[in-house]
Amino acid sequence: MNLRIINGPNLDNIGEREPKIYGNTSLVDYFNSLKHNFTDINFSFINSHFESEIVSVLHASENQIDGIILNAGAYSHTSVAIRDAISAISVPVVLVHISNVYARENFRNNNIIAPVCKGIITGFGVESYKIAIQSFID
Ligand code: DQA
Repeated sequence: MNLRIINGPNLDNIGEREPKIYGNTSLVDYFNSLKHNFTDINFSFINSHFESEIVSVLHASENQIDGIILNAGAYSHTSVAIRDAISAISVPVVLVHISNVYARENFRNNNIIAPVCKGIITGFGVESYKIAIQSFID
């Protein structure tokens, strides 16, 4: 199975960024350990601060990838373009958030991407990614 993990803006410094909210584990270290836990899965990892690049990667995933795990970061609350790109492809997308966005500021309650995703996992720290991977296996 080919899974693509896409991380949006401000997620390249998890482990250092606001550790009380996002924890102390770097995503690079965490994804390296994940690769060892799921040896049957071919992972590709993409980080981008740019909305247009995320849209392009979503389009390019069509017919190439079995599932996408997307943490769109702040774009989850703002990006019609990313929502439309998810709607335009048939690859299932599971939306992931490290923090529980529904327990934070009101503006994070507005998740405009979630309705077009297969599911959403929010609030389990970096383990949210592992739960998302498991959902594709199950
Ligand atoms: C986040 C939650 C978003 O609201 C925030 O803008 C982020 C990180 C999370 O993983 O908890 O950048 O996506």
